[in-house]
Formats: sequence, C-alpha cells, structure tokens
Amino acid sequence: MSYRLTVIGTGYLGTTHAACMADLGFEVLGLDVDGPRIARLAAGDLPFYEPGLEPVLRRGLESGRLRFTTSYEEAAEFGDVHFLCVGTPQKAGEYAADLRYVDAAVTTLAPLLDRPCLIVGKSTVPVGTAARLAEILADTAPAGGDAVLAWNPEFLREGFAVQDTLHPDRIVAGLPAEQGAAEHAEKALREVYRTMLGAGTPFITTDYPTAELVKVSANAFLATKISFINAMAEVCEAAHADVTKLSEALSHDDRIGGKFLGPGLGFGGGCLPKDIRAFMARAGELGADQALTFLREVDEINIRRRIRMVDLARELLGGSFAGRTVGVLGAAFKPNSDDVRDSPALDVAASIRAQGGRVTVYDPQAMPNARVAQPSLAYGDSALSAARDAHVVLLLTEWAEFRDMEPSALAEAVAERNIVDGRNALDPERWRAAGWNYRALGRP
Ligand code: UDX
Repeated sequence: MSYRLTVIGTGYLGTTHAACMADLGFEVLGLDVDGPRIARLAAGDLPFYEPGLEPVLRRGLESGRLRFTTSYEEAAEFGDVHFLCVGTPQKAGEYAADLRYVDAAVTTLAPLLDRPCLIVGKSTVPVGTAARLAEILADTAPAGGDAVLAWNPEFLREGFAVQDTLHPDRIVAGLPAEQGAAEHAEKALREVYRTMLGAGTPFITTDYPTAELVKVSANAFLATKISFINAMAEVCEAAHADVTKLSEALSHDDRIGGKFLGPGLGFGGGCLPKDIRAFMARAGELGADQALTFLREVDEINIRRRIRMVDLARELLGGSFAGRTVGVLGAAFKPNSDDVRDSPALDVAASIRAQGGRVTVYDPQAMPNARVAQPSLAYGDSALSAARDAHVVLLLTEWAEFRDMEPSALAEAVAERNIVDGRNALDPERWRAAGWNYRALGRP
C-alpha cells in the first residue's frame, strides 16, 4: 500500500519535506495554522529563499500529489503518516526551547486520530519530549494504541535542503518500547524512505531518547568544531599567526577533516545557537549539566567573534565610529539563505550603528527579513551602494557575488579603502594589490 502523508508545519523543514516526498510519488498534504502562508504555498510561491525548492514544490502541485490545508480535521482524515515539522525556537529570556508549537500540534491532532496511523516527530526537541508526547497520544487519540509515535530527527541544512532531504547521510528512527508498535513504526518508516534506503542510506533504529539526542549532539559537535577553530583564531591574532593556514593544515588529518573548520565570524541561524542552549538547559534539568558546561564556552567563543569584528572595524577607523560610514556586505546568517535568525552579520551591523556608525547593509536575498529584524539600519540595493562613501567595508556573509567582487570596482565607491573580511573569503594579495588595507579575523 502507498501511505498518504501529512506534514505539519511549513517552515524550511516542513515545506522541503512535503515537496520532496510528493516528488518521490507520495500523496502529501501540508498543514500550517498560518493561512496566508498556506495560500502562497498552494499557489506555488515559496515564502522563503531556498535554492532548487520552488520547482519541486510546483511539480508536486501540478501532479496533484501535493496539497496544502489549514484544517487539522482534513489532515487527520487524510494521513496514514503524520510528520511533525513545527519550530522549536528559544524561549524569550531563557536558554530552554519553547515547545508550544509542538505541543499545540499534538494536542490538536491527537483527538482527531480515529484509525491506525503513525506520527513522526522531526522537530528538534529536548530529550524526553517524545515520551511525553506519546503519553498525550495514548490518553487522547480515539485510535488508542493504534496511533503510534516515532522520532525521526532531520539534519537538513538551509541552502542544501532539497539535496539533504533526498540524499540524507543517515536516517534515525526512534521507536516506541512496545514491540508491536515498534514494528508498525519501523515498517512504515522503511516504506516512506524506501528510495533513500534503496540507495544505501544507513538506517539506525533506537529508542526515543537516543533519537532525540542524535540531533542535538550532532549540532553541538558542529558548533564545537566551529568554535574550536575560532578559538585558534584568537590565539593566532595574539601570536601573529594565520588561522586560515592553520585550518588548512589541520584539515589534511582525516581524523579532523576540513568541514566546519572555517574560521570567521562564527555560527548563527535558527538551529546551532538555540540548539546548544536548549541542550544545556535540558541537561541541567536532568542533573547532567556538568557534562555540557563546555557548550557555554562554545557559545561564548562564538559571541566573542562578533565583538572582535566590531573592535577591529573601530580600530581601523582610529578608535570611534562617530560620524563614520560603514558598508556591510551580508545580512543572512550564511550564504544561499535569506534567514537572519541570530545572524552574526546583522548583529555586528546593529552594534556598530548603536556605537554611532552610519551603517548601510546589502544582502542578495535577505533584505526583506533584515529590514523587519533591524528596521533602523540603512539598506542599499547593491554591494556598491552599501559601500558608497564608506570609511570601512565589512564582508560578513560570504555570498559568491562578494567573493567574486572586483577590488578596483569597489574602490571607486568608497571613501577609504579599508576592508575587513569576516569570513576569510577574499584573497588578501589581490585586495592589497588594488590598494586596499585588508584585515581579517585570525590573520596577521
Ligand atoms: C545546521 C546543521 O548543519 C544541520 O544539520 C541542522 O539540521 C540544522 O542546523 P544550518 O543552520 O542550515 O544547519 O546551517 P549550517 O550550514 O550548519 O551553518 C551554521 C552556521 O555555521 C552558519 O552561520 C555558518 O556561517 C557557520 N559556519 C559553518 C562557520 O562559521 N564555519 C564553518 O566552517 C561552517
């Protein structure tokens, strides 16, 4: 039989998952409580920037296999497998994750489930959440023990969401303890992911807490790797060494590897920062806080890079931003995304402005989101216009169009040829040859 799928929550994760599963041949119903968003999706209009996703969305809609709704009744009636893809942001003023969307989805859906089905959690949640949600299901779903929960964390990166969904590194399935339920869940997941499994993707079955922990520990490891190299960058700055050469040399040791060893302004986005904080908060609740105290350091190293960037720019301007013009290239938390959640680039831009600098920002995709997040900053409509009359230019998100910039062309626009490369993305020799005073994080 071919399962009918629902996807609850249509953010980066849910929209990509829904469109890709429809592309694989499943009938899929996407659900969100945000009516205008659902209307845009149903019209084939992606509400965020994600390379390669819009054609997949449109193919799904045209095939008739992909539809969208705001109705939980319709979803409950339609689905054999329900994927939970709602967000788990950081709570305001604390480290812990805000589970209100996950809880609302389950408490709304459960009372409507009156036939056998599988609920598959994909959202990133604190360990212990799946067990708690399974109890809510058991207590409130009319289908009783036939409404089964599995936990199947998602590892997709923004900018590569389609690729990561269709070709995952591994599939992790957290299954219930009861044997019959576990068999039902595993069978359904193997069927839903048969294309990936056929291509040899490792399939790892675990209990709920292990599956939940795989996701947060993966993100904790990645954050640690980035902060490790950025800590080395701090030492390099003190010792007049070059962290880009250091990183290159380390990367040839295949026990270390070069991925996520890129020194610069550090990590941001909707996942790594809030996930390591939620992980620390949860470990504290479990009495295991000592195990994760190093993540506090990882977070602090990361934040220090932003402060160092502001200090370096101020230093280049002779000690003050007052009355000085600063051109900022980049607002998204990383290239190929329009996401500005916890963006290092916007954070730096805002703090320079708070210190009296006249800041103009340009980003190829993130301008609408940046304007909402930081309305008091000025925005230009190109790299050249952001750099116009600048006393210093800061490269804060390494979009290809900034990497490929012609130093002499940018030189025409600025008041002074000072550039700080916050992502170690430019060739210092090329910029210096064109008369620029080139500075970067972690390099002499
Ligand atoms: C991350 C995880 O990679 C993904 O597996 C998880 O599902 C969600 O969180 P994402 O937030 O899309 O994905 O971004 P990612 O590509 O991991 O980059 C995170 C941040 O680290 C970015 O701000 C990026 O600029 C920064 N980064 C990355 C570095 O500073 N140096 C590096 O070497 C790599």
